[in-house]
Amino acid sequence: MQRRDFLKTGGLLAAASSITPGLLPAAQAKPVEGSFPSGFLWGSATASYQVEGAVHEDGRGTSIWDTFSHTPGKVYQGDTGDVADDFYHRYKDDIALMKALGLKTFRFSIAWPRVFPMGTGAPNPKGLDFYKRMVEELRANGIEPYCTLYHWDLPQALEVKGGWQNRDTATAFAEYCGYTVKNLGSLVTNYMTMNEMRSFVELGYKTGMHAPGLQLDPAKLAQLNHYVVLGHGLAVQAIRAAGSAKTRVGIPDNATATTPVIETAENIKAAGTALREENAMFLTVLMEGKYTDAYLARLGAAAPKFTSEELKIISSPLDYLGLNLYTPTYVRAASNALGYELVPNPKSYPHMASPWLTIGPEALYWLPKLVHQVWNVKEMYITENGCSSDDVIASDGHVYDSDRVMYLRNYITQLQRGVSEGVPVKGYFLWSLLDNYEWADGYEKRFGIIYVDFTTQKRTPKLSSEFYRTVIARNSLA
Ligand code: FCB
Repeated sequence: MQRRDFLKTGGLLAAASSITPGLLPAAQAKPVEGSFPSGFLWGSATASYQVEGAVHEDGRGTSIWDTFSHTPGKVYQGDTGDVADDFYHRYKDDIALMKALGLKTFRFSIAWPRVFPMGTGAPNPKGLDFYKRMVEELRANGIEPYCTLYHWDLPQALEVKGGWQNRDTATAFAEYCGYTVKNLGSLVTNYMTMNEMRSFVELGYKTGMHAPGLQLDPAKLAQLNHYVVLGHGLAVQAIRAAGSAKTRVGIPDNATATTPVIETAENIKAAGTALREENAMFLTVLMEGKYTDAYLARLGAAAPKFTSEELKIISSPLDYLGLNLYTPTYVRAASNALGYELVPNPKSYPHMASPWLTIGPEALYWLPKLVHQVWNVKEMYITENGCSSDDVIASDGHVYDSDRVMYLRNYITQLQRGVSEGVPVKGYFLWSLLDNYEWADGYEKRFGIIYVDFTTQKRTPKLSSEFYRTVIARNSLA
């Protein structure tokens, strides 16, 4: 029995402050509050361009992020990923840090231009060798690798030919995925196709804030969006063809986390409706094999051109779904054609060090729950969750990121709420292990639970490391 149920049934609310757990009769002892099912997969996540550095080593080709970060004015203080966390050379030490944390799993990404420097054509075996060495080291330390095949570092040679605006990029992506899966063989079982489709489509090709920095018109953007989801579907098929019976494939998607602003039956229903509509061009088409009528109507003449065969490919079945979740999008019921409306945040809405990172822990309850309800997804992972903080090294050498601990505690509490109700989330990957190259924010925004001095490459576990290590060790928040 949970303590609040005890208080309710015992009618002891008024006396609550005088009750301590030690005084509860033994017969009323409750299961550990905040615990997770045994085998829950605790992990953390990184991505190639954000941590590896070594951009000219072992035959790696150029990616759109090399080009973009070296273009003046695009990234905070002109920061580039040339060195980043130097993970390419320091991976053994970093894996030792993972082990000390008790991580069961590690999500990393493969840089496509390391494997195919020109995107297609001749592979570069030395590129894949790095990932083989790294994965062997993970396995030697009992850490299960989860491999993302695309975390935004498109080979520049493909961008020159139109990048994701060109349907051939979708085919090239599938070929690269098939080659990689075949050559990693039994080293990797769990794959993910592409990280956060919405982020790289909208930031890369609509606002131009990320590589390659384009601002396409709505028709071109919708067509590119279609080739991206097609690339995902073709990759799923290529991974299955190249892998073994054990190979599993999913996608880490940052579905817009429609969250009832107040938990009434009407708003909860509206949040489910909004989930489908707000994610129409990404998760919904993957799950349902069609674009919603409202999405196509909204675009009108700018709607993408597609075939029913392509829709089938796009909705190829997955073994699991990854959800990257940072912020809520509040929804309430409305008497309009859609049946819902989004609730805007006021200027005073609290956020973490990154202004976009508004705080709404209950989104980590509602997103997996609604995804499960709406599409009957049977296996999910939180493939990213975490936050930026203005971390500083204190005079005693420690980093007291109590705000990150607050954020994590509250989000993981809401995750536990869902899991305890039977929402099938099987693991959680904290973003991120290390402070790293935060895209257009350069090194200014720190997301790690391990502090990195980017001049000396010294690593210092933060207070949040201790928090996370404790959660993992107890498999519980309490
Ligand atoms: C996500 C990205 C990841 C990182 C975090 C903070 O959108 O997938 O690479 O930048 O945000």
